[in-house]
Order: sequence, then C-alpha cells, then structure tokens
Amino acid sequence: VFASIVQAPEDPILGVTVAYNKDQSPLKVNLGVGAYRTEEGKPLVLNVVRRAEQSLVNDRSRVKEYLPITGLADFNRSSAKLIFGANSPAIQEKRVATVQCLSGTGSLRVGSEFLAKHYHQRTIYIPLPTWGNHPKVFGMAGLSVSTYRYYDPATRGLDFQGLLEDLGAAPSGAIVLLHACAHNPTGVDPTLDQWEKIRQLMRSKGLLPFFDSAYQGFASGSLDADAESVRMFVADGGECLAAQSYAKNMGLYGERVGALSIVCKTADVASRVESQLKLVIRPMYSNPPIHGASIVATILNDRELYNEWTIELKAMADRIITMRYQLFDALTARGTPGDWSHIIKQIGMFTFTGLNKEQVAFMIREYHIYMTSDGRISMAGLSSRTVPHLADAIHAAVTG
Ligand code: LMR
Repeated sequence: VFASIVQAPEDPILGVTVAYNKDQSPLKVNLGVGAYRTEEGKPLVLNVVRRAEQSLVNDRSRVKEYLPITGLADFNRSSAKLIFGANSPAIQEKRVATVQCLSGTGSLRVGSEFLAKHYHQRTIYIPLPTWGNHPKVFGMAGLSVSTYRYYDPATRGLDFQGLLEDLGAAPSGAIVLLHACAHNPTGVDPTLDQWEKIRQLMRSKGLLPFFDSAYQGFASGSLDADAESVRMFVADGGECLAAQSYAKNMGLYGERVGALSIVCKTADVASRVESQLKLVIRPMYSNPPIHGASIVATILNDRELYNEWTIELKAMADRIITMRYQLFDALTARGTPGDWSHIIKQIGMFTFTGLNKEQVAFMIREYHIYMTSDGRISMAGLSSRTVPHLADAIHAAVTG
C-alpha cells in the first residue's frame, strides 16, 4: 500500500548534517546547523546544566509523573520573567498565559494552531528571508503565509524602508513574525530606534506580533538587551505572542525545551486563552517532557546557578564574536575581493555570507565545508583551527 510513496527531500538545514556525516574527509567542517561547538569543535554541555542535573538526580523526592498539559509551573513562571523582565507589569497583572512546549518549533506550532483556531486573521507575515522551518510550521497549522521585505542583499543590511512599506500594506489584524534578536539566517537586526518605529506602525494598524526568541543572551551576551524588542511591545499594554527556546542559550538542543507565552489585555482573558492552549496541546502530545524543563527551572530559580549561567552564556557569545573577527581578518589578509565587513556587523549565531548556491556547492565539494545553500554559515561551528581553511575556501570560491 505504500509502494507509490515518493522519496522526500532532506531538510535544507538538518540535511546538511546528514551529508556532513557521510563525508570521510578529515578536513570536513559543519557550518550548517546552528549548534554551538567549543574551540575543539565539540558540542558543549554547560557546567551549570551538569550541576542542575546532578541536583535533580540527588533529589530522591523527584518522580517521573506526568506534568500538567501546560507543563512545569515553575518553568513557565520563570520563562515569562526571563523574556518579559522580572518586574513586567503584564506578569504582575497575570495577563500572560505561558505553556511549556517542545523548544522553539513546538512553541511556534502551538501558538499558530491556537491562532488558526481562535484569531480572526489567518495571514502571517514572515520576513524575507527567514528560518526555513517558519513557513512550514505556520502552513501546517493552517495559517496563510505572506512575506515582508527584510534583508537587502545590496547593503547586506536591513531593508527598513521595504519592511515599513510591506507591513504598512498588510491587512489590519494580520499576524507578523518577528525575530526577537539575532535574525536567522541574516544576523541583521533592527536598531532600537527602528524597533520603535516598527512597533508604532504595527500598533497603529492592529498587526499582531508573534516573536520568535531563539537566541536570548546569544546575540549580545546580555539576556536583557536581547529581549528589548519584545519588552517594547509588552510595555505598550498590547497583545503579543512569544516563542522561547532554550536550545542555544542553555545548550539544551535535544531536550526540546521551550515556552509559548501569550500576553493578553486582562487576567481573565489570559486564563481563557490558557484553557484553549490546553485543548491544542492535549491531542498533539498530551503533555511536555519533564527533564529539560526541570533543568531550566532549577537554574532560573537559584541565584548562584543563574549567575553561573550568564557567565557561561556570555563566554559562548564572546567566542562567536571572536570567530567573526578572525574570519574577517583572515579574508582581509588574503585580499579576498569584496567587502566582508558584514561578517563583523551581523550578530548572533550566523553570518549571511552573500555566497551563492554555486559557490556553496564548490566549497562543499572542494573544501568539505558544509553550509546551507543560501550561504549561511554558523559562526558557532567555527574555531581558530578551522578559520584559515574556511577563509581559503571563500577566497577560492570568490576568485575561482
Ligand atoms: C538552525 O537554524 O540551524 C537551527 O535553528 C536548527 C534548526 O532546527 O534548524
């Protein structure tokens, strides 16, 4: 009965790892998936995560019962505080419904299923370009996906005018996906001043902000600075949605731990929204897993562990920034044609190199350097050892 099923293509991002794993070359480097690596090229489990796990294991009172449909209450409370700020009036006024979900993707999916069912506007505007999974998540949830201009290839920066024009032309009430910080794949963020203008435009048109916050603390090294865009929208008293992931900032990739928050106008509305979120979650996966959320809650609720986390987080962010300077210097030293200053201007995990599909294919074939076909490279996958190899490859791709 399944004989006619056609082979599906690999995922454009996770498929890069599949190809990398098959490559036998000792020179191979994986700059595809956004996953942090140490200077030695190894995955990193944060020390603070090990400590939190140890304390969970030592606590014999911990059981493996089902969590509530909405997840671990402590985790939800502290996740909302982390993104909206500890003194956020929206939290104090109990206007926020937060549910634990399966990392950023699961949070986006639950949020968009909720919107498709209960919100009057079914169109979501996503930036061009955006993370490849965004249109799939929203489309599968039943939303109709449109784009707004975001990145200008000519300047390798923000197309702010295009963004304002497209959001200005969006139908009133449309949902708008915003990357809270460290835009994926471009590494280009609006300035605070530009965020303020976006906020004013969106509020004046009644557009509904849906933030994807996958890199809080990773862009600047400061958890507060990286949440400024979200907090601006919450401070004006209006509604918004926020999807949080702890994959990158706590290195909990495979634990699949994240949260969806919906900021409402009143506590009563928030409580009804939460009741409906439960109806979305229960038939999807019943209730979320306990381990990752317990790690996060342990860290966020212990001052000493929290401080240690911020130090380790800053160290990861700083190492990525160092890689930016090393790559920029290496290309400058080689006299590689073109302006490469965007490597040090863009922020977060990725550099949007500007390399085209053919150049990417050349670098994979000749240099065993793997990246997504749009020319995005994960700076977190680089090390001082691999920078010269990458610079040689880019130089050859550009001059070849
Ligand atoms: C990425 O963009 O590489 C990450 O967010 C990993 C993923 O799931 O695609």
